[in-house]
Amino acid sequence: MPYQSPRGTNDVLPYDASRSERTFDSHVWRWVEDTFAQLSNQFGYSEIRTPIFEDTELFTRTSGDTSEIVTKQMYSFLDKGDRSISLKPEGTAPVMRAYLQHNLGASGGPTRLWYFTHIFRYERPQRGRYRQAHQVGAELIGTDSPAADAEMIELAYRFYERLGVRGLKVSLNSIGRTETRVAYRDALLKHMESYLADQGTEARAQAERNPLRMLDSKDPAMRAALQGAPSVLDYLESESAANFAQVQSLLTEAGVPYAVTPEIVRGLDYYTDTVFEVQSTNLGAQTALCGGGRYDNLIKEIGGPATPSVGFGAGVERVIIVMESQGLLPEAPRPDYYVVCASAEAEAKVRELVRSLRATGAACGTDIQGRSLRAQFKAADRSGAKRALILGEDELAGGTLTVKDLGAGTQETVNYNDFLSDVARA
Ligand code: HAM
Repeated sequence: MPYQSPRGTNDVLPYDASRSERTFDSHVWRWVEDTFAQLSNQFGYSEIRTPIFEDTELFTRTSGDTSEIVTKQMYSFLDKGDRSISLKPEGTAPVMRAYLQHNLGASGGPTRLWYFTHIFRYERPQRGRYRQAHQVGAELIGTDSPAADAEMIELAYRFYERLGVRGLKVSLNSIGRTETRVAYRDALLKHMESYLADQGTEARAQAERNPLRMLDSKDPAMRAALQGAPSVLDYLESESAANFAQVQSLLTEAGVPYAVTPEIVRGLDYYTDTVFEVQSTNLGAQTALCGGGRYDNLIKEIGGPATPSVGFGAGVERVIIVMESQGLLPEAPRPDYYVVCASAEAEAKVRELVRSLRATGAACGTDIQGRSLRAQFKAADRSGAKRALILGEDELAGGTLTVKDLGAGTQETVNYNDFLSDVARA
């Protein structure tokens, strides 16, 4: 095989029963995307699509130039006009750029947007972690109401619920505003002082650049050192604390189960106050199905007016992995009919029938190569069609049609015109 898809990327393929891997079946992706689109529309969100690449600076200014995503994982390059361009590592900053550029808040807001996007991160690939991954996501722009945070979390939760996913855990935290962060940073670094003294220069520098990231470290020694560390929740300003309490009471009212988890800090620097993740135990090492939170300073950071906002991104590959492990994958769609041509004279009539059936909305396959009857029945079986419709000399002469149930193997002859009007009426 001369060429393979690049490491960490996947092809999303048509269903084929002989393939054991089901995560990349295109009908499953279509199902997940359509479910999200429909639910988001029900919540009053409209779709937005942004380019696959943006000016690099959009991400360095927003995701944070100390975040791992920006420092290590971005696919950045100079284009032929010497501009620094990056494939989008996440969907939020581009949506905010578009919101500002097109003045989407002009009608008074808040503005509710949903999206499906590719994301690109140069990570070490493993199951559930890819270099080209995909998210569905939503952003609620232009309000600092705790009801917005609750609405976002509820939307994410209902998405998984609608897909039938079980065993979800919603982890909720508040990381406060800048002042909280400064005070908490110092307290955390102080707690970790003796542990960090024994670490290498790079690890120490990293901890000092972004102390909060220590909290979600998976390193057992770091985890042990974190025992008894102060909690960010003890450092919240009173407004943040009141908002956080309000978010929780709204979630309780909505029947969305959650657990306050002070270790959730998120890997992007733009968050303020509420942050959350939805996790599943069926994901192995990658536990996060979805992550999000409030980002009140992002729009200001890219030159707009202060615009408090909240949103989330949900990994498409990851939810499908969980659905597969829970036996929730939808069946591949099957055509309603496969029209079989039993004699050369019937060819034009076959084309007419196929056209008429498709016009009624039915899914219908047929042979276009003049193949033998046997080959056509084989193709009908392979297509998964529920019924074969056979047109040959006898049917032409009698104005009839032979209908064969491909599951049961039974067949009957019916009047051609009656059959078509029945299908049109159904
Ligand atoms: P994030 O936590 O970086 O947040 O990504 C959200 C979700 O995307 C993750 O929980 C995971 O399911 C999926 N994901 C991320 N990276 C990968 C990967 N390499 N392979 C597979 N799946 C992945 C964001 O991107 C924010 N923009 C979310 C947000 C929206 N915050 C506010 N609004």
